[in-house]
Amino acid sequence: MVADSVDNIFPEALQEWDLARLYADLERISTKELKPIEKACLRGLLCRYRPGQIAYKLSWTSGALRVELNKGLYRYVEALANQPPNTLRWEKISEWLSQYRYPDRRSVPQTTPIDWGEAPEVPQFFGRRDELQTLEQWIIHDRCRVVGIWGMGGIGKTALAVKLVEKISHHFQLVFWRSLRHVLPLAQVIEEWNQTVKNDRGQLIDAFRNQRYLLVIDDFEAILQDGELSGSYRPSCESYGNLIHRLGAERHQSCVLILSREHPKELLLLQGEDLPVRSLKLKGMQTQDAKELLLSKGFNPQTSGIEELIQQYRGNPSALKIVALTIHELFNGNIAEFLRQTSLNLGDVLRSLLYEQFSRISDLEKDVLYWLALKRRPIELTELRQDMEITTTGSELLDALESLRWRSLIEKTTDTQVKFMLEPVVMKYVNQKLIDEVNKEVTLMIQTKSLAHTYFLQHFPLVEDEAPDNIRAVQIRLMLKPIKDRVNQLLSKTKTPMEELQKIIKDQITTERLENNMVLLGLRLDTQSELSTT
Ligand SMILES: Nc1ncnc2c1ncn2[C@@H]1O[C@H](COP(=O)(O)OP(=O)(O)OP(=O)(O)O)[C@@H](O)[C@H]1O
Ligand SMILES: [Mg+2]
Repeated sequence: MVADSVDNIFPEALQEWDLARLYADLERISTKELKPIEKACLRGLLCRYRPGQIAYKLSWTSGALRVELNKGLYRYVEALANQPPNTLRWEKISEWLSQYRYPDRRSVPQTTPIDWGEAPEVPQFFGRRDELQTLEQWIIHDRCRVVGIWGMGGIGKTALAVKLVEKISHHFQLVFWRSLRHVLPLAQVIEEWNQTVKNDRGQLIDAFRNQRYLLVIDDFEAILQDGELSGSYRPSCESYGNLIHRLGAERHQSCVLILSREHPKELLLLQGEDLPVRSLKLKGMQTQDAKELLLSKGFNPQTSGIEELIQQYRGNPSALKIVALTIHELFNGNIAEFLRQTSLNLGDVLRSLLYEQFSRISDLEKDVLYWLALKRRPIELTELRQDMEITTTGSELLDALESLRWRSLIEKTTDTQVKFMLEPVVMKYVNQKLIDEVNKEVTLMIQTKSLAHTYFLQHFPLVEDEAPDNIRAVQIRLMLKPIKDRVNQLLSKTKTPMEELQKIIKDQITTERLENNMVLLGLRLDTQSELSTT
């Protein structure tokens, strides 16, 4: 068995025992270094595994392991515990060494210095047990060099990483946390790092080779380019990409943990199940945990609608915290009523959260989002290509879809065929945004009596002819109706008779889609249209 895997056996002992001190004291008594196998057995025994179970885990025979322990470890333990020689029974070990047990997990002496930078305190935290376990496995036991946590805004990346650092920091010489929210140049991060570790301006990678450090880089998406396909860096920030590439590809004993709304492309290129570069896509909280979060916000477990609410916001803790507030303030704590009344209404904060993300993507990606918002159902690539009237067979559309997926704005379903749809929280936001954009256009159209400045009205159907009935009904209610109301409001405000506008814009209609939209809005007469919006 190779030494490395022996080192990784029974890691749970670390949580309860001050192993570093215990190893050091035993080595003082034995006057030599403990063998990896002795350390592994000690950890196992402290966790109350029997010698036979430990032998099995180590692929030794129990006889051979007993001999090994009798000639070494057991004798050192007796001496350390001031017990007569040859009296040790394995069951006694944890009792005899109890002075090395941490009195309480929360009072574990914090020996590892942590430079938290701008990391928030996370006083309240529910669930995420599986994620914490996976990350601990990757970082501590599999010794991953670069680990990414990515997922949409507010899903809980930062909170999870704070808890992770609290849990595993004792494995490192130093933990250094920096947020790139304000687009911190790499040179500045390194400068601050050098100050903290009192490094004599050596290369980061050399320091990472010599010691085991944990570097956390939060808000990584801030240094990625706006309006580009996911993954490219802002002009002065490419050096981050090179650094991550090096830290992933070269040998060293440290770890960099990257938190990002978007999936950095270095991770994608380097990562793999057997490789020391991995990433975890963080999804919403599990229903039970999200429920605990809501209960802590003053709802009682019997309140009806709790589970629908969690489902509607996909367990996004940020969204849930925001709507919890709204529900208390505006709906007197009545979740069911909130759900009934607010099919379109996203909390302001959540909207700004998505707004920030939305403002960063390319025009093609925006159009894809608008289309998916409009279609309101999972769509195949070919259908989307047709609808968007993309005639080239190039991969731009596919790239845009992948890019949006990395940004956690869309989901891919693969029941029978691959289809794309919006994350539900994103759907509401994009739908509202599309309405806002079309409203701007109709306002301008009525003010200028011209169709010259229309883009959305020319390219997007307000209601799809071919959509299934139930979807068409929703499109009429959520899309067409508010826009039509707006048109009528503007016409009466500007005292423009409908017929006059109809006449003026009649000759300006150039495309079929524009014509259909004008008919839907009542701005073009079409006796064949049977569509009624009332
Ligand atoms: N497991 C959890 N239990 C309770 N609250 C949580 C949990 N996870 C996150 N939160 C809370 O939800 C909010 C959003 O979490 P956080 O800031 O970690 O999200 P994020 O993914 O880092 O978002 P962003 O992309 O905007 O940085 C915070 O108020 C945080 O405290
Ligand atoms: Mg964050």
